[in-house]
Amino acid sequence: MSYPRPKRPNHDHGGWMKSRDLSPVERGYLTVLLWFDRRFRLVDYVETLETLYYRTNLQLPKSHTEQYNLDNKFWYWYPLYALGSFSILAYVVAAISGALLGFYYSPSTAPAGVDGDVTVAYQSITFIMTELNLGFLLRSVHRWSAQVMVAAVFLHMLRVYFTGAYKEPRELNWILGIVLLSLLLLFGYSGYLLPWDQLAFWAGQIGVELFLSVPLVGEWVAQLLFGGFSLSQSTLQRMYILHVFVFPFLMTALVAIHVGIVWIQGIAEPH
Ligand code: HEM
Repeated sequence: MSYPRPKRPNHDHGGWMKSRDLSPVERGYLTVLLWFDRRFRLVDYVETLETLYYRTNLQLPKSHTEQYNLDNKFWYWYPLYALGSFSILAYVVAAISGALLGFYYSPSTAPAGVDGDVTVAYQSITFIMTELNLGFLLRSVHRWSAQVMVAAVFLHMLRVYFTGAYKEPRELNWILGIVLLSLLLLFGYSGYLLPWDQLAFWAGQIGVELFLSVPLVGEWVAQLLFGGFSLSQSTLQRMYILHVFVFPFLMTALVAIHVGIVWIQGIAEPH
């Protein structure tokens, strides 16, 4: 079945191929190319890709030194411009190691162990640390990449501040950055509670009390996020769902928008 196609001016393959003196190799190559082009519109797609390539490159200046005539004064600040990308790298490492940890962790406060004196969640962490092959390494990579990411994002924010890159027209990306930093801290907090050890439990308690001290909405938020005013299975379950299901998708989407805006606006020149 054929479908209607708009008439394309450059794609009249009729007479011109015969009218030129072509070698058999050229003729064979063109015949194959045209056969595919008639069916899959190759040339259209290649042209679209070409346009996209040139637009992308327009956003990336060759070098700031060259473009703004800075005479090599600024080159030693350039590594600081990589902190945003470094945060993304740390995020990818945390995501991969986190997905692997998820195979072995169980978010349950039910009693476990010989005497039932520890929880299933805590026991699954003990299993990862002492019995799983390279489990201690996997967990350490996850914790360290998360902490390195917080440090990198904070330093990235300082770079943006001290180079004045938050100014017009980049105000919205600065605000989105604040949202990203807040989300990152909540992401870390939800993960910190998962081992359900003493540190996690009391950090959870502080969280509940923090929200309870907020006027009007505090109690409602504590109930929603922690599943009550004292810690229980509902708390751990909520933190788990936030940590593995809600925050990763939200964070990935917002980082994509953040970087998309940088791509559209281009990097700010050093002031
Ligand atoms: C998850 C956290 C974040 C990630 C992954 C991220 C990623 C990036 C990347 C890759 C860039 C390109 C330039 C560069 O790397 O320096 C960038 C630029 C930018 N970021 Fe972030 N960022 C994050 C958080 C933040 C925060 C907390 C702020 C500020 C509150 C912020 C504000 C900005 C601004 C204003 C730009 C444009 C800078 C320019 O044009 O020179 N970002 N970000």
